[in-house]
Amino acid sequence: MDGNGRWAKKHFFKRIIGHKYGIHALRNVVKECSHLGVNILTVYAFSEENWDRPAFEVESLMKLMKEYLIKEREKLHKENIKILSIGNTQKLPHEVQGELKKSIELTKNNTKMIFILALSYSGRSEIVQATKTIVRNIQNNKLHMDDITEATFAHYLETKDLPDPDLFIRTSGELRISNFLLWQIAYSELYITKALWPDFTIEELHKAIEAFGKRERRFGKVLEDRYHNKDTNLC
Ligand code: IPE
Ligand code: MG
Repeated sequence: MDGNGRWAKKHFFKRIIGHKYGIHALRNVVKECSHLGVNILTVYAFSEENWDRPAFEVESLMKLMKEYLIKEREKLHKENIKILSIGNTQKLPHEVQGELKKSIELTKNNTKMIFILALSYSGRSEIVQATKTIVRNIQNNKLHMDDITEATFAHYLETKDLPDPDLFIRTSGELRISNFLLWQIAYSELYITKALWPDFTIEELHKAIEAFGKRERRFGKVLEDRYHNKDTNLC
C-alpha cells in the first residue's frame, strides 16, 4: 500500500493525512475483495524498515493502526472475515498488540475471507527466523537435514498452511518488492499501478483483477497445447 505520502503532498496535506485517506482505501478494498470471493488478502501495512521513519510519523501510524482495529474489527467480524497478522508484531506498542490480539481472537472462527495484516514485516527476517528454527530442530534431532525440502522450509514460515499469493499488487508505480513475502511470491503475478494508494479505488482493484485474468501462468513450464501448435516451433 504505497504512495500515501506523495498523495498528501499532491493535495498540500501533511503525510499523516495521506495515511488517513490510505485507511479509507483499505476499508473499501477489503470489503470488495470479500464480496468478489477473494480467499486471502494480505496487506503490507508496516515494514520492518518503516521503524526508521521520523518518530512522529511512526507514532501517528501506530495510533491509526490501533484506531483502525478498534473501529473495524466488529464490521469485519460481521462480514465473516478472519483477521491474522504476520511480522515481528512483538515490536509494536503494547496497545496495538492488545488490539491486534483481540481482533484475531474475535474473528478466529470466521470463514469468508482471511485478511492478513503484515506489521513490522520483513521477508528476509522471516526467512532467517525459519532457518534458525530449522537448525535448532536439527540440533535437537527433531528434523533430519535430508528432510528439508521446499515444502518443509515453507512450513517454517509464518504463512505455513496458506497458499502462495496469486496476485501481487503494488501501488504508486515503484518497480520494487520492498522485502514483502520474498519466498511466497516466487510465482505470483506482479501488477504495478501508478495509482497512489489512497487513489486505489474499487475500480482500480477491478482493473488489477482483470489484468490478472489475462495472464498466462506457466510456472516455468510450457502449456500442453503449445506442443501441438505448428506456429510456435516447439515440437
Ligand atoms: C505507504 O505510503 C504507507 C506506509 C508505509 C505505512 P508511504 O508513506 O510510503 O508513501 P510515500 O512512498 O511517501 O508516497
Ligand atoms: Mg513509500
